[in-house]
Amino acid sequence: ATIHDQKLHRGAGGELHQFAEDGKPVLTTAQGGPVSDDQNTLRVGSRGPALIDDFHFREKIFHFDHERIPERVVHARGYGAHGYFETYASLAAYTRADLFQRPGEKTPAFVRFSTVAGSKGSFDLARDVRGFAVKIYTQQGNWDLVGNNIPVFFIQDAIKFPDIIHSVKPEPDKEFPQAQSAHDNFWDFITLTPESMHMIMWVMSDRAIPRSFRFMEGFGVHTFRFVNAADESTFVKFHWKPKLGLQSVAWNEAVKINGADPDFHRRDLWQSIQSGAFPEWELCVQLFDQDFADTFDFDILDPTKIIPEEILPVKAIGRLVLDRMPENFFAETEQVAFMTQNVPPGIDFSNDPLLQGRNFSYLDTQLKRLGGPNFTHLPINAPKCPFHNFQQDGHMAMRNPVGRVNYQPNSWNQGPRESPVQGYRHFPAEEQGPKVRLRPESFADHYSQARQFYISQTPPEQRHIAAALIFELSKVETPVIRERMVSHLMNIDETLASKVGHALGFKSMPKPADAAMPTRQDLEPSPALSIIER
Ligand code: HEM
Repeated sequence: ATIHDQKLHRGAGGELHQFAEDGKPVLTTAQGGPVSDDQNTLRVGSRGPALIDDFHFREKIFHFDHERIPERVVHARGYGAHGYFETYASLAAYTRADLFQRPGEKTPAFVRFSTVAGSKGSFDLARDVRGFAVKIYTQQGNWDLVGNNIPVFFIQDAIKFPDIIHSVKPEPDKEFPQAQSAHDNFWDFITLTPESMHMIMWVMSDRAIPRSFRFMEGFGVHTFRFVNAADESTFVKFHWKPKLGLQSVAWNEAVKINGADPDFHRRDLWQSIQSGAFPEWELCVQLFDQDFADTFDFDILDPTKIIPEEILPVKAIGRLVLDRMPENFFAETEQVAFMTQNVPPGIDFSNDPLLQGRNFSYLDTQLKRLGGPNFTHLPINAPKCPFHNFQQDGHMAMRNPVGRVNYQPNSWNQGPRESPVQGYRHFPAEEQGPKVRLRPESFADHYSQARQFYISQTPPEQRHIAAALIFELSKVETPVIRERMVSHLMNIDETLASKVGHALGFKSMPKPADAAMPTRQDLEPSPALSIIER
């Protein structure tokens, strides 16, 4: 045999394995063609112009030119890991979801942690909400619990989501600040949106600068429903409790860490999983019925409210263990598509107006971000249970109907059929009323739970909240916005308000804010402001 022959090997199926001179597989184009020279373009003479018939060069550069996809419109910076969910006990009395039926059963899962406001290249220790998005690949389809590390949200209605996000992202003319909330647009929106006050107290607290993903809680935020085999519904709130407990860093630590190692959180997750220290969370639920919900003076459909655990203790129903890093960040963590509307039979939605809007938004955004309707063909998004449907074609289709039939009903006795028994049945909640755009009165109290959160904090934690507010508001250049925020604080805790007000140079405190704020406010300084030294 010649040297040339020794570098070829034909496999059992007739496939040709070609090896380079050092025994490594031969580099090929995406079309499979072997490449002879990957260092020099094809030219006329060694100093002449490049030639368009260099198909290898064209393909290589073409592919590189198209490597980027849009970053997520929010939660752009994130880091994910694989693992499993293990059920503790049967929840058949509450839900017919298959994953909650058999104690000890493990279901594969993928989790992506994220910051909200910063871009994909921003730093990990920003003061920000953290995303805690869990995809559980159940035998009845994927269940996505797309949560945060804070149990409430800034707004009560999804129609305000573009506004809150625009206000927190870099300002449109300056394109900064990058990943911090300390700027006028954000505080302008917040102070004109009193429903955000509860969330703001959490965001100004140590919760917004976690030590690592492993020390964070996660929350489904909204009220969901469990629905059992008899079609009976129980309201449920989901909480992830970290086995390691809850830990944060202090602000001065966060600032230093961001400078020294902007990848601090992702490095921590990578290192702990690679070294076998697998992070773990318990999935806990608060279960209640309509009668119990009616005992509250807030609305369980309002995502700016919690149900205090002292009133309704959480019950652990399973655990989530993360034990494997993705093999490829882009293929898995970047292309994973979470969607709140991914629920298996036995889990259903409430009428929370934020949740209802999210159920529309996530499908829409994946189409844009992942480039077409076939993003469920990507391995990270594909179900891990048998699945059958008549969807076909579209960009990058990798699964098309096999055989003659791509519709139903059909006379050929081919293809899948719907099943009223096995299939997803929406809980048949009774609904009626006039079509209106109207916030219910039960959503009107924006301060009680903000106060409750503040007074539940230890004295050092309260000092951190005050320091964060002083720092943030001191960066706000428009005096009336500072004043407005202090007037909200007057409704939350007067001592906190005066601490912040004095640190900002106020000589007297403004009047407590009117909870029913107009959506637009005059920028003329108020009489109280005229005596403020700036
Ligand atoms: C992304 C949580 C409200 C639209 C995300 C992610 C999380 C999350 C964790 C990142 C998912 C990932 O890691 O890939 C939440 C929570 C909310 C909330 C807990 C309120 C309780 C909303 C609302 C909307 C919205 C009201 C729109 C009406 C989006 C969009 C993305 C996103 C468009 C980007 C998805 C992607 O490109 O993959 N959200 N979100 N979110 N969220 Fe939300």
